[in-house]
Amino acid sequence: MIRKTFRPGATIFFEGQPADCAYIVERGQVEICATRDRTHITLATLGRGEIFGEMAVLDDSVRSAAARATEETEVLIIRRDQLKRRIQEVEPVVGQLLGSLISRFRQAQSGLLNDLPGRDRGTANHLVVSAPTGGTERGESALNWIHREHDLERGLGAGEFEPFFQPIVTIAGGELAGFEALARWRHPDRGLVPPCEFIDLGEKSGLIRQIDLAIMADACALLRRTAGDRPLPFLSVNLSSQHFTDMDVVTGLAERLAMTGFPADRLKVELTETALVHDPHQAYEVMCRIKDLGVTLALDDFGTGYSSLSYLHKFPFDVLKIDQSFVRALGEVGRTHHIVETIITLARRMGMEVVAEGVETADLIRPLRELGCTFGQGYHYSRPVPADVMGGMLDRPIASRE
Ligand code: CMP
Ligand code: MG
Repeated sequence: MIRKTFRPGATIFFEGQPADCAYIVERGQVEICATRDRTHITLATLGRGEIFGEMAVLDDSVRSAAARATEETEVLIIRRDQLKRRIQEVEPVVGQLLGSLISRFRQAQSGLLNDLPGRDRGTANHLVVSAPTGGTERGESALNWIHREHDLERGLGAGEFEPFFQPIVTIAGGELAGFEALARWRHPDRGLVPPCEFIDLGEKSGLIRQIDLAIMADACALLRRTAGDRPLPFLSVNLSSQHFTDMDVVTGLAERLAMTGFPADRLKVELTETALVHDPHQAYEVMCRIKDLGVTLALDDFGTGYSSLSYLHKFPFDVLKIDQSFVRALGEVGRTHHIVETIITLARRMGMEVVAEGVETADLIRPLRELGCTFGQGYHYSRPVPADVMGGMLDRPIASRE
C-alpha cells in the first residue's frame, strides 16, 4: 500500500509507537501533537508536501510525538528502505549527522514538553507551539519524487519494461552480427518512455538492478525464440554500475541464461567506466566471474567519461564501444580523427573488437572501414526496434549503403 486516507480526527500514530515508515502529506492537514498532564500540545501543523514520521525511522527508535489528521487527509508512505537509501546514496556520513541531530532534537523537545509555560498551572488545556506550514516548492518536489519512485516500482511489478533491439552490423560487409537490447517503459498513461527518463530514478531507488535483469531475460528469450533454427546473432545488454559492487549479478545472469536457454557465449554485457571507479578491485572480481560464465564484456560509451586508457588494459574487456560524439567527428580533418584512429588501433592491438556507436550517415563507413573498425551501430543501419520488427532483420541483409 502506498497511500492511506484518514478521516478528520483520526490518529495516524501515537507517541512512543515503534515505526516502519515515514509519510508525506498529499492532501489535507496533519497535526503533530503530544499530551502532558491533560494539556494537548500542538507541536506543528503540516500541509501538502511535508514529511513526518521520519525521525523514528532514521534513528530506529519510537515516535517522538503523535500524528493526527485534522481534516480528511491523504498521505503517501515512504518505506524505511526508500528513505535510508536516499541518505546512504548521498554519503553515509549524512546518515550519522542526521542521527546526531535527531537525538539532540529529541532531547530538546522532551525538555520543552516537560517545561512549557502555563502547562502545569492548568491555565491552558491546549497549547500551540507553531503555526501551520506546508505547500512549499520543496514539498512539491518531495511529493514528485515519491510518486515517481512508486510508479517505477509499480511498472516493474506489472512487467511494463521491454527490450527494443538495435542491430550491430559488420562495417566491412554490412551484415547483421548482433543486437543491443535497449530498455523501454511501456507506461499506461505516458506511452513509450525512453531510458533517459527512468534510468536516473532507477539508479537512485536501486530498482535499476531488477530492470536491467528483466530486460536481459526478456531480450534473451525473444531473440532465441525469433531466431529459431537460424544462426543466433549475439546480444549485448547494459548493466548499471550498481551491479559491480557485489556478486548478485553473477547468479542473476546465470539463472536467466539457464531459464531462457540462451547460450552464454552469445551474450555480451556492456558497462561504463563509472562501474570501475568506486571499487575497482570488487568490480574486477565481478567481471571475472561474469567471464567465467562464458559471457563477454564490452566497455560502453568510451570517450564520454574518463576515457582512461589504463582501464583498457587493467580490466578484461573483449569489446570497446566508441561513443557517438567521437564517431560523428570522423571524416572531418582534425584532431578527433587522430584520436579515434589511435583508439581503434590500440584496441585491436589488445585483441578487442571495436564497435562504433552513432553511425548515422553513410559517409562514416569508409573511414571506419579504413581504420579497421569491426562493427557499427546507429540510425544509418536502424533505430532500436520492437521485437516483432527485429524478426524481419534476421533474413534481410542490412546493406551498408555506403
Ligand atoms: P517520529 O518521531 O518518527 O514521529 C513523530 C514525528 O513528528 C517525528 O518523527 C517528526 O516527523 C514529527 N515531529 C516531531 N516533533 C516535531 C516538531 N516540533 N515540529 C514538527 N514536526 C515534528
Ligand atoms: Mg550500451
